[in-house]
Amino acid sequence: MTIQEVAVVGAGTMGHGIAQICAQAGLQVRLYDTKEEFVQTGLNRISNFLKKSIERKKMTEEESVEVLGRIKGTIHLDEAVRSADLVIEAIPENMNLKKEFFKGLLGKGKESALWASNTSTLSITEIASVTDRPDKFIGIHFFNPVQLMKPIEIIKGILTTDETVEAIRALTLQLQKTPIVVKDSPGFASTRLGVELFLEASRMVEEGVASIKDIDTGAKLFYGHKMGPFETCDLVGLDARLNNLKSLMESTGNPKWAPPLLLKQLVASSYLGDKPGSKGGYYAYFGITKD
Ligand SMILES: NC(=O)c1ccc[n+]([C@@H]2O[C@H](COP(=O)([O-])OP(=O)(O)OC[C@H]3O[C@@H](n4cnc5c(N)ncnc54)[C@H](O)[C@@H]3O)[C@@H](O)[C@H]2O)c1
Repeated sequence: MTIQEVAVVGAGTMGHGIAQICAQAGLQVRLYDTKEEFVQTGLNRISNFLKKSIERKKMTEEESVEVLGRIKGTIHLDEAVRSADLVIEAIPENMNLKKEFFKGLLGKGKESALWASNTSTLSITEIASVTDRPDKFIGIHFFNPVQLMKPIEIIKGILTTDETVEAIRALTLQLQKTPIVVKDSPGFASTRLGVELFLEASRMVEEGVASIKDIDTGAKLFYGHKMGPFETCDLVGLDARLNNLKSLMESTGNPKWAPPLLLKQLVASSYLGDKPGSKGGYYAYFGITKD
């Protein structure tokens, strides 16, 4: 199947970026959120990104106008999904919230539409279980910042068909990304690897082995990582990391995924990472300047 129109649900950190790259790839996009102000914030973030791209000569003014012209913001779900070939959900990482959203989507939009979640850890098979189309349900795990990060993890639920996987693989190539396909399992491949490194790095800080900056520098120089585990956590969001760990604990029952005490305390103290409305992340808390 060919995907020409996409509905993106949730205009936050991930949703606005997903909407932007879909529009840049020539797709028609509806960006849906629950309040006008949330939709507007998402649209503003897209405009600002495009303005910077023009300044850096990566895009012309005309191209930017065309991209924005392909994105329509809305607070009406019916309108958002009416003619969409694919619905991509990017609302907060909470199983009940996601299930409620997809239950509310039943009977709306095209029968042939594929439905997807951008979850980082939650079971695709379980979210799909509340829908009428587990064969057409899939995980499309974009990375942050969506506009710049190359990989996409495609997650195949136990009832997702190969046809659905192939349609999404083709879409990710159209978006100029590099897909990997993984089976539905807690933390998939990327989150599982990412949080493992973060947990070991947190234990090293607790034991006084090295500072967060030295650990980050080590990860970059020893292993060629682009960012260290704490820089990554600041970018991903401390609340998002905490949710990843809680969800891994819950789904596997394995105590090795227990969130570090400092992470829980920082989130409780409004250190949510480098994003609007947050005091910052690990670097801000320790008063360290990033390179
Ligand atoms: N932040 C990351 O680095 C990152 C990376 C990969 C995947 N993810 C995943 O992407 C998803 C979204 O994360 P985020 O960081 O963009 O969250 P966010 O909090 O920045 O944005 C979520 C948006 O969803 C909206 N929303 C909430 N309930 C809604 C509903 N019922 N209908 C429509 N909109 C609703 C909110 O108003 C908000 O604008 C999560 O599942 C997260 O795990 C996040």
